[in-house]
Amino acid sequence: MSQNIRALSARRCRDQTLFEALLEAGRVTGAPSHSQLRALSEESLVSPAALLGAASFYDFLAEDNRNKRAYVCNGTACLLAGGQEKVRARLAAQFPDEQIGEAACLGHCYRGGAYRIGDRCFDTVVGPDSERGAGPAFHCHAAHSVFGGDGDEAEVLYRRISETASQLPVSFSDELSISGLRGRGGAGFPFSGKFDACRSAPVGRKYVVCNGDEGDPGAFSDRWLLEERPQRVLAGMLAAGLAMGSDTGFLYVRAEYPLAQKRVAEAIEAFEQMPAFAQTGFRFRLIPGAGAYICGEETALLNSIEGLRPEVRTRPPYPAQAGLFGRPTLVSNVETFAALPWILDHGGAAFAALGTEASTGTKLVSLDQGFNNPGVHEVAMGTALERVIYGYGGGFRTAMKAVQVGGPLGGVVPVEKIAALSLDFESFAGEGFLLGHAGIVGIPQDFPMIGFLRHLFTFTADESCGKCLPCRLGTEKGRRMLMEATPGSPVDGAAFDDLLETLELGSLCGLGGGLPLPVRNILSRFRHELTDYFRSEAGHE
Ligand SMILES: Cc1cc2nc3c(=O)[nH]c(=O)nc-3n(C[C@H](O)[C@H](O)[C@H](O)COP(=O)(O)O)c2cc1C
Ligand code: SF4
Repeated sequence: MSQNIRALSARRCRDQTLFEALLEAGRVTGAPSHSQLRALSEESLVSPAALLGAASFYDFLAEDNRNKRAYVCNGTACLLAGGQEKVRARLAAQFPDEQIGEAACLGHCYRGGAYRIGDRCFDTVVGPDSERGAGPAFHCHAAHSVFGGDGDEAEVLYRRISETASQLPVSFSDELSISGLRGRGGAGFPFSGKFDACRSAPVGRKYVVCNGDEGDPGAFSDRWLLEERPQRVLAGMLAAGLAMGSDTGFLYVRAEYPLAQKRVAEAIEAFEQMPAFAQTGFRFRLIPGAGAYICGEETALLNSIEGLRPEVRTRPPYPAQAGLFGRPTLVSNVETFAALPWILDHGGAAFAALGTEASTGTKLVSLDQGFNNPGVHEVAMGTALERVIYGYGGGFRTAMKAVQVGGPLGGVVPVEKIAALSLDFESFAGEGFLLGHAGIVGIPQDFPMIGFLRHLFTFTADESCGKCLPCRLGTEKGRRMLMEATPGSPVDGAAFDDLLETLELGSLCGLGGGLPLPVRNILSRFRHELTDYFRSEAGHE
């Protein structure tokens, strides 16, 4: 059935994708009405059930979002900072209870106390993020900054790209391969491999898709790039698109980042106003998200743009073979695309020289409100984690027992282990953790680990796409086991171990498959805190 919907959706995508039509239908009241869905069904020939199935998946289009006016952030950094109850109480003075919802995460982890009213996000310290300067601070600690500088104008970036355009297909591919650039969205897959697969795909429609979903609570570096360096991101997409023979670049920006959406729309306009850009025939499409963590997973993201229910697809085929609307598609992260203009300018070897042999270049690291110097820090890959945390980050504001690195599916690193790690893919994997997108959140000494485990399972149970059984049932089962656990009625450790193994081996994607990693980190390294909650030992690594 999804093939048919995909074909119908592709037919109408020139002016407005099916997903954008759903967003428009839900814009005023917060959820499309049944009559709107019927009308859209008649026009698109997609059944109302399929449209309702898609719309109801999203936090900001589902029926219980109707008439919501304000949202309290329930992301990890805001949870650990405390104070969200106060935020809720403050909002309750302004809005009736049924108009207040929850959102994860608004990307204000560097301050905490985040909330959203209408199209503006706030945090308890500064206020609306549409005021300049209210975003995260940016610091570069590398020998050269790949993302710093002045942000660059569209014309400057376009000129640089067009000057090398005639040689792009050949030279760009070489430079990419020499640069060793690996995807910054979490998995660290070599960019040149995906790019070459798309470039060498048979001539015909191909797409570039930039993944701006940044759903990991604790990460806000993509938000910073989209707000402060949107033209770099677009220039990277354009360069890759022209070099692989694509004429359309989709940029998917999550709903929780309204200011980023606005800045990207302005940056697209700046490109479109250049006659030279218009002559390329390349077109940018900004697709605003609607609140679903799984849309950061690349195949769910493609389904989302198509207007299907954003469930993860089985692979193969990979997006480079059959991606958006079934066409070869290059899907990459915001930071990955934003690195391309620098590589074009300085060459692949200069980029490779900035990091380690296997993890080249620099990485943007998000440090949350638990640090004395929070914000976005650009560091050379391979930098000692100790230096990042205690040097660049200024150490912790309060006593911490661990740091969560790489979001809810990343690792939980006890503070005594920090000295053993450097900030690169290999070091983290070698020690049983995950670098992921490199958002770092401090876990305070007095925050109970049982509470942190409950938070991880609640998040994944809420965000599971439901496509595969181990994750759909397993995350909810684990959540219940942990919620009901008390010293008088502890969890059966052997049953919990079985659950983790089933999630790890049986899940289709990294959501269900990745959850056991931080859970086992916690069970093995903070066992002393958890003995009352588990009847027998659980979580052997
Ligand atoms: C559950 C889940 C969530 C993900 N969320 C994101 C995300 O928010 N942003 C992102 O770029 N990649 C995310 N990814 C990784 C993407 O699937 C994909 O690997 C990435 O967009 C590819 O870009 P890259 O090669 O530049 O990293 C997620 C993966 C999983 C399994
Ligand atoms: S692991 Fe979870 S999120 Fe991933 S495909 Fe299965 S149900 Fe969906």
